Formats: sequence, C-alpha cells, structure tokens
Amino acid sequence: MKRRDFIKNSCAACLSMAAIPTILSSCSALVNTTGTLGKDGLTLTTEDFIIKDKGNTAYRSFLIIRNDALKYPICVYRFNEKQYSALWMKCAHQGAELQASGDYLQCPAHGSEFNNKGQVTNGPASTNLRTFPVTVNDKEIFIDLRKQS
Ligand code: FES
Repeated sequence: MKRRDFIKNSCAACLSMAAIPTILSSCSALVNTTGTLGKDGLTLTTEDFIIKDKGNTAYRSFLIIRNDALKYPICVYRFNEKQYSALWMKCAHQGAELQASGDYLQCPAHGSEFNNKGQVTNGPASTNLRTFPVTVNDKEIFIDLRKQS
C-alpha cells in the first residue's frame, strides 16, 4: 500500500471512529491535569479519569500531569479502579520528553518506546522509565514522589 493510500485510509478510519460515542473510545481520551502537589507527592482523584457522555460513564486509560513544579510530566495509566502506574516522561536514553500514544510512550528524539508500566520495548534506550508508587484510597489517587520503583 502506498503511503498516500495508507494515510487516506487511516484518516477515513479515524473519522468513522469519531462517530462512535466517547464511551467506546476511552483508550484515546487524553487529558492534562496539574494534580495537587503536596510535600510528599501528587494527588489526583479517580474522577479525573471519568468520561461522562449522555448518561454513560467510561474511563480514560491514561492522563498526563503537567505541573510547573515538575521538570517532566508524569503519565498515569489506569488499569482498573485500584491499579494505576505513574511514569516519569523522561526518556531513559538521553532525557527527551516522551509522548504518550495510547498504551505506550514514544520518544521523539530517537524512537525509543516504553509500555504503560514503563518497561522499555524498543531501543536505543536500554533501561526502563522511572516510575512512582501509586496508592488508591477511596477516590484519592496518591503518587509518591519520594520513592521510585
Ligand atoms: S533521547 Fe529518547 S531515544 Fe534518545
């Protein structure tokens, strides 16, 4: 398939997907938030992941925390109501800021890729991303910035 045909077909697929209610496209629903920064870490709420559309509720698969106090953003993936991962969006190769794309993070500098748990899946990076412990207490999601895992 020629590149032009591929792009044309891909765009057509995206446009047809746009007609599907948001409830079915939660994996691509990206949102930026600042979170609430405390002395030990960042706090979000589980409601930050909720997408409401015409009475239906769905969940974003991830969101990105951009806070002026942080040198890099943190990407938070939601696996279920109690399991999340928090990934420092600094490439493990040479430190470029990563881009989130669905269930993986990609580096625009040299193409390294990482999965939604921060594990390197494609080089040249050879180490995993810095990750932070996440705890969920009722509706509060706490990202502990004192520790890394
Ligand atoms: S800085 Fe990310 S792959 Fe080189």
